[in-house]
Amino acid sequence: MAANPFDQQQPIPGVKKIIAVASGKGGVGKSTVATNLALALREYGSVGLLDADIYGPSLPRMMGARNQKPTVSEGNRITPVTRYGIKMMSIGFLVEESAAIVWRGPMLFKAMDQFFKDVQWGELDYLVIDLPPGTGDVQLSLVQKVPVNYAVIVTTPQNIALIDAKKAIDMFERTGVRIAGVVENMAYMLNPATQEKIQLFPRGEISSYLESKKIPLLGEIPFNTSVSLASEAGIPIVESHSSGVEAKAFNDIAKKLNLIN
Ligand SMILES: Nc1ncnc2c1ncn2[C@@H]1O[C@H](COP(=O)(O)OP(=O)(O)O)[C@@H](O)[C@H]1O
Ligand SMILES: [Mg+2]
Repeated sequence: MAANPFDQQQPIPGVKKIIAVASGKGGVGKSTVATNLALALREYGSVGLLDADIYGPSLPRMMGARNQKPTVSEGNRITPVTRYGIKMMSIGFLVEESAAIVWRGPMLFKAMDQFFKDVQWGELDYLVIDLPPGTGDVQLSLVQKVPVNYAVIVTTPQNIALIDAKKAIDMFERTGVRIAGVVENMAYMLNPATQEKIQLFPRGEISSYLESKKIPLLGEIPFNTSVSLASEAGIPIVESHSSGVEAKAFNDIAKKLNLIN
């Protein structure tokens, strides 16, 4: 009989819940959602944030931690960077921002191993993992190596993005990872003058799809330039404008996630 690839799964000592933030497409706001959710989850315990987007790590910049470095102690144990009270690890701390990572599968698997085994995460209630787009080696390696409690899928409203989000959902379902729900990002924009909702992207069949799959819509994040400005500045919106509509949307999602066992 073929070996079960999920036999290799090992919990990360001290880490209670592992949440994967994923999407089919790039540019839909995974990293934005991962960082802001991590910040919002502080309300419910200690939080770690792992940047598993090996080829395009954006968390050091988005979290304003570009000048920080993890330290390596005896026995090659890596002490993560702490920012806004969140323990963070990213390949971006170890390489120049403009340098490309040119790795094949085995190197990538090795790096993932180190993220889970060599980083001293300590006691964490939540470890939020920001994934690259798609359903490739990183995603597979993640679900094989550690027991992911659930996945949060990020999409924008239009069918072009939803088609790829469905593939991400399919991959998690096939590998036995529960889908906590979908976050619809850039769901609408509020007209600054009238506060009317403007549909930036056409809303596709997302509602009927979620209904048919019995997958909850965790929340809708409006498009707002303050969200992207906050990320550029390294102070995510939940931290920089904690009373705004966008922060509230992230806080509500964190609240829902905290209720999942
Ligand atoms: N709700 C939003 N409002 C405005 N800009 C956003 C929003 N969500 C994401 N962005 C911006 O869109 C770009 C892509 O987001 P990012 O989180 O990097 O996507 P991904 O990780 O899926 O590739 C970033 O510049 C980000 O600041
Ligand atoms: Mg990203």
